Amino acid sequence: MKEIGVGLLGFGTIGTGVVKLLGRNAALIEEKLGVGLRLKKIADLDITTDRGVTVGPGVLTRNAEEVISDPGISVVIELIGGYKIARELILKAIENGKHIVTANKALLAVHGEEIYAAAARKGVEVRYEAAVGGGIPVLSAIKGNMAANHFGTVLGILNGTCNYILTKMTREGADFSAVLKTAQELGYAEADPTFDVEGVDTAHKLAILVTLCFGTRVAFDNIYTEGISAISAMDINYAKEFGFKIKLLAIGKLDGDRVEARVHPTMIPLDYPMADVDGVFNAIRLTGDFVDTVMFYGRGAGMDPTASAIVGDVMAIARNLMVGVGRRSAPLGYLDHKLKNLDIKPIGEIVSKYYLRFSALDKPGVLARIAGALGKNDISIESMIQSARMAGETVPIVIMTHEARESNIRRALDEIDSCDFITEHSKLIRIEDALQ
Ligand code: HSE
Repeated sequence: MKEIGVGLLGFGTIGTGVVKLLGRNAALIEEKLGVGLRLKKIADLDITTDRGVTVGPGVLTRNAEEVISDPGISVVIELIGGYKIARELILKAIENGKHIVTANKALLAVHGEEIYAAAARKGVEVRYEAAVGGGIPVLSAIKGNMAANHFGTVLGILNGTCNYILTKMTREGADFSAVLKTAQELGYAEADPTFDVEGVDTAHKLAILVTLCFGTRVAFDNIYTEGISAISAMDINYAKEFGFKIKLLAIGKLDGDRVEARVHPTMIPLDYPMADVDGVFNAIRLTGDFVDTVMFYGRGAGMDPTASAIVGDVMAIARNLMVGVGRRSAPLGYLDHKLKNLDIKPIGEIVSKYYLRFSALDKPGVLARIAGALGKNDISIESMIQSARMAGETVPIVIMTHEARESNIRRALDEIDSCDFITEHSKLIRIEDALQ
């Protein structure tokens, strides 16, 4: 075997990074593998735009079939994204005996089982390191070096776009939409950026992590998902005053025979290492029963880091091909028939500390009513700030609670929001400050 044929579906930002890497580091890759990786075909609807990378003659095509049915191609890299076409092409490529490398977390979170089953039937590999954490090799570590552990928790800052936006808002008081536009220009954002800012992309990645860590299938729709679009400069400033930073956190916890799997803006103490994860950087913090706490940190999005993970996967498949073995390990790290079906705990049942912000008219009895509603619902106050009156006689009242059950918090907020002195919907942000 002198070379291994590779095909690429999708010539966008990440595809361009893959072409650049395969070209620039070709000699190094060959030195490590003993064979070269040859990019034989690239399919995309747009084959005329100059991406600033060199592509050999006859490589570009508008016809994806040419990639997935080329007998000289052993590994197909899927970078189209989305559910429909990507799924169809991956399934056909598997049917044709191709190994798959993909960064498509949305597809894997929702249709992963079907794809892994098809791959098992054909004895081919599906690798997807780039789907979570961009260039960070966390999935391989969970399935490989840390595989001997029972995992208890997995926490992640998993969306570069959101982390970039929150960082700019925190450091520079920047405007949400202007920062989102820059993140899009830098190639961090999804084709549909609402997937980023509404937490959907993070939930896709969390679904994959929860399956890998806890060995359970995850019903994606049951992951509680809340994005960052409602985070205001005021909340960021209050967080700072209380010694916290706001991060969009993915939280996975094993809790008996259920799991917690939720994505939402979260206040974390300023002295937590995760609070220093800024900009496009991602971090994943895992606890295993033998390894204890491990934290991964690196660039979670962008052309070059993501290409690094993709080509690493192609090289892993190439190594297997070189010695004539395919599919050395199950794609989820567990034997297929050993995967469990643990339920996800409903959000109302979680227990957390909360930041609550009320906008109220400044008049006698308001604080007593708010405190009364909290007390009645078994919610204990840890600290409180009432700032100066703003225009229109409205005053922000911020309360930090001790641990409380979310259903109680929501009941109290409903009751408070129905009072005539409340001028806008009350705000809650969960706090995570008890990491062992
Ligand atoms: N849109 C994603 C992010 C890309 O911003 O993190 C990497 O998955």
